[in-house]
Amino acid sequence: MTPDEFRHHGRAVIDWIADYQEKVESFPVLSQIQPGQIRNLLPQNPPLHAEHFENILKDVDRLLPGVTHWQSPNFFAYFPANTSGPSILGELLSAGLGIQGMLWSTSPACTELETHVLDWLVDMLGLPAKFKSDANGGGVIQDSASSATICALLAARERSTNYESNEKGCDRRLVVYASTQTHSSIEKAVKIVGLGRQNLRLIQVDEHFAMRPDDLVLQIKQDLQDGLIPCFVCATVGTTSSNAIDPLSEIGHICRKENLWLHVDGAMSGTAALCREYRYINTGLELADSYCFNPHKWMFTNFDCDCLFVANREILIKTLKVIPEYLNNKATESGDVIDYKDWEIPLGRRFRSLKLWFVIRYYGIKGLQHHVRRHIKMAQDFAGWIERSDSFELFCPAPLNLVCFRHTGGNSYNRQLLERLNKSGNLFLTHTILNDQYVLRCCIGQTHTEEHHVKQAWQQIQKTAMELGKTF
Ligand SMILES: Cc1ncc(COP(=O)(O)O)c(C=O)c1O
Repeated sequence: MTPDEFRHHGRAVIDWIADYQEKVESFPVLSQIQPGQIRNLLPQNPPLHAEHFENILKDVDRLLPGVTHWQSPNFFAYFPANTSGPSILGELLSAGLGIQGMLWSTSPACTELETHVLDWLVDMLGLPAKFKSDANGGGVIQDSASSATICALLAARERSTNYESNEKGCDRRLVVYASTQTHSSIEKAVKIVGLGRQNLRLIQVDEHFAMRPDDLVLQIKQDLQDGLIPCFVCATVGTTSSNAIDPLSEIGHICRKENLWLHVDGAMSGTAALCREYRYINTGLELADSYCFNPHKWMFTNFDCDCLFVANREILIKTLKVIPEYLNNKATESGDVIDYKDWEIPLGRRFRSLKLWFVIRYYGIKGLQHHVRRHIKMAQDFAGWIERSDSFELFCPAPLNLVCFRHTGGNSYNRQLLERLNKSGNLFLTHTILNDQYVLRCCIGQTHTEEHHVKQAWQQIQKTAMELGKTF
């Protein structure tokens, strides 16, 4: 493709995306197709000869029935993976530059922009200054919170064993603590890092589904008595099921006393700290060894983009650093530069900070705050409607933009209600189970969700529940 052809086809692609944005509400939010339906549309074999770009682009439309529209303003499922124009364009530029930023020297701008933007974020979110690159810490962009947790756990493992696990293999006595509500990525991390699922303790939660520090203390005590080595605690700011906020201060003091690594996972809710009034969620974060949040969830930056901050970068680097001769270079040898390959699992890395930089500059702090406040306000309104309803109840507090609620008709009723709602294509909600109760979740965080979308969703929920009541 020549630059001129690229220019021509590129315009068509941008037009396609803009058209999609304009009509996204006209599609069923949750894809309604059957397994295999999309593959059946595709030719059996790859083309032997070149095809016209126009035809390739046209065929994207044929995939649309198999797309669940995460960027629909009627998407209220899971946690969002929102995006925005500046982010998409930043991503495009990153692909256009096509660099691989494993070392500072393989593209200094990739490393330096990343360090700079992550330092900005420390200030923007009011995070502890120790996470900045001019202190002992620093930030790095990972593909996901799952990878961030794995990196933090590896560093903790090495700190606990004086870097012996890296040399000799894993010590089976290391123990990891998380609450019963911690995201499943911690279980995966424990398996990947080689600590063994049997060494993962799930700490009990309180009536608001936040980790109970007293149970954590008891578990640590028991493990010490059993000759095990408590190593790592994962606390969450905004759990996936119900947005519970673990008490970081109490957990942090326990970790300090017992010399455990504290990792804080703020995957979605961390973004709320852009606004001063929500910074209370991070109270106690100064006691953490590492922290991550995902701009690719709620900060208008398309997947993938997780920011991991560590208080002591040397531990992380010592854990992950390997220097083969073919990557040796003067800048690395000088010790004056960051080589982000030593802060993550893969060697290669994309220029992800570009899209984050675009988003932050395009919206400005005030613009980002505006959208976060808007989302939280809409969620709070929705929670209020639930509270005032005779047939629905709020299941647990809704501190930010996730509302957990249920119809009073019981588990089976709620399950069928959700199925009907999602089948309508007008909105997409997901569920969880809390205290054996089937609970519906409505998370408001898509970039273009407006009040009228949330009102329509509430009307549809009420109407569908009434119709279901007639047949139940
Ligand atoms: C609290 C929490 N942590 C971690 C994750 C995993 O995120 P990722 O897909 O970035 O690995 C999620 C995903 O929803 C989450 O809710």
